[in-house]
Amino acid sequence: MDDPGVLEALKRAIDPPVARTAPAAICVLTRRIPAYRDRCYAVQDYSAAIENMLLAIVALGYQSCWYEGHITDTDRINEKMARILGVPEDYELVCFLPVGVAEGEPAAPEKKPFEERAWFNGFRA
Ligand SMILES: Cc1cc2nc3c(=O)[nH]c(=O)nc-3n(C[C@H](O)[C@H](O)[C@H](O)COP(=O)(O)O)c2cc1C
Repeated sequence: MDDPGVLEALKRAIDPPVARTAPAAICVLTRRIPAYRDRCYAVQDYSAAIENMLLAIVALGYQSCWYEGHITDTDRINEKMARILGVPEDYELVCFLPVGVAEGEPAAPEKKPFEERAWFNGFRA
């Protein structure tokens, strides 16, 4: 969404506040429905979708952050956001992705070298 009024209402619902200056955002919804036999793969499905959205956001020259922990905690900020957007009861709002131009280059996280994270032909400690 990029409607300033809707965006402002959503940001007001997020406490403590995040992404104060982002001019647009995506709210990701899911439904906990069986996909294969009795299994629900909602988490995998929406996580893959979020990863694709993050890649697209960066490819277009913007930045984002995956806000899920903050809005799905015990204070259920996500439910307040869903009410603002008129989301039906059988959907769950699980993630808030602000979209904007970063003020600076985000610091790259420290990562182990590739050889310590992936192995060919069997696990190597
Ligand atoms: C399920 C999930 C929930 C997250 N929730 C939050 C959050 O509430 N607030 C936040 O600042 N970052 C959140 N993040 C982003 C992570 O802190 C981290 O920046 C991101 O996963 C990038 O990880 P990387 O450094 O391994 O690439 C979340 C990430 C995931 C996968």
